[in-house]
Amino acid sequence: MSSETKNTEYAFFEGDFVPIDNAKISIKTHALQYGTGVFEGIRAYWNEEHQDLYVFRMKEHFQRMKNSIKIMRIDCKYSTEELCSIVLKLLQMTKPKTDTYVRPLAYKASLRVGPGLQDNPSELCIFTTPFGAYFKVDEGLRVMVSSWRRVDDNAIPPRAKVSGSYANTALAKTDAICAGFDDAIVLDQTGHVSEGSAMNLFMVQDGHLVTSPGHGNILEGITRRTIMEFAKNEFGIETEIRTIDRSELYTAEEVFFCGTGAEIAPVLEIDKRTVGEGKTGEITRKIFDMYAQVTRGEIERYNHWVTPVFAESGKSSGKKLAVK
Ligand SMILES: Cc1ncc(COP(=O)(O)O)c(C=O)c1O
Repeated sequence: MSSETKNTEYAFFEGDFVPIDNAKISIKTHALQYGTGVFEGIRAYWNEEHQDLYVFRMKEHFQRMKNSIKIMRIDCKYSTEELCSIVLKLLQMTKPKTDTYVRPLAYKASLRVGPGLQDNPSELCIFTTPFGAYFKVDEGLRVMVSSWRRVDDNAIPPRAKVSGSYANTALAKTDAICAGFDDAIVLDQTGHVSEGSAMNLFMVQDGHLVTSPGHGNILEGITRRTIMEFAKNEFGIETEIRTIDRSELYTAEEVFFCGTGAEIAPVLEIDKRTVGEGKTGEITRKIFDMYAQVTRGEIERYNHWVTPVFAESGKSSGKKLAVK
């Protein structure tokens, strides 16, 4: 184990910074029993040369979390800026010198039995953990189209990142792994391509990008948005947002997954059919390389997307919060 991972881990829990082992909830907690929490997954990237950790698009993650909170009738007393300050303080306390995942969760905390969201207090917790690659991207991914359909906007809205809806993700992912694949692509209720199990999907067709729309029951990803922006600005590659048929995946020039966890992951085989030439395509490679640099704060014109953790020590703004 590296020396970095031995640092004391802290969590933000019920309004205080506490050692992670003191952040405990009752087994009666509503969110545990009914999945009534909303969460985010944020990455912070260690830059060895800069000796700093960069949190990627933190504000955008908390803006999305605020929308999830609204949909699920959760109360959150913290502003987006205060939530960002809490994360910075947590990372400054833990001092990781390695790539790190940040997991905020806002949840219903009632201890009563019954699924209602009303008259049900809300709480917030945030923890951080060292986090490397989610996929072996060098090998590319071999995936299947899942027989599980994506949850629908009229069931559990996928544009909200609701804990309970990840039972859907878990079924699709687990069945794919158990069948010998790396991951799954899920279709929406109309049979069109939605996304990967826990990441968005792009395909390359006639040299441009194509991705499913918000009404395809995707989580509208921050990585997806990031890619569309720099693909256009840096490489002049446009993105078409439209409904995708399953069979288009088989004839695409390139396919890749993207997400905070997944980062950029080339998909080389779908349902035992080779995608393109069966190796990482030229456009996927360009996007992969660019994303790796942007997230580590290496490209100045995109540095408004990253928040340095240690350069910010001492000048972290927002509400003063006690350490217990
Ligand atoms: C279901 C689902 N879709 C897409 C994404 C990608 O979203 P983002 O790029 O904001 O991480 C995620 C990851 O959070 C996810 O869980």
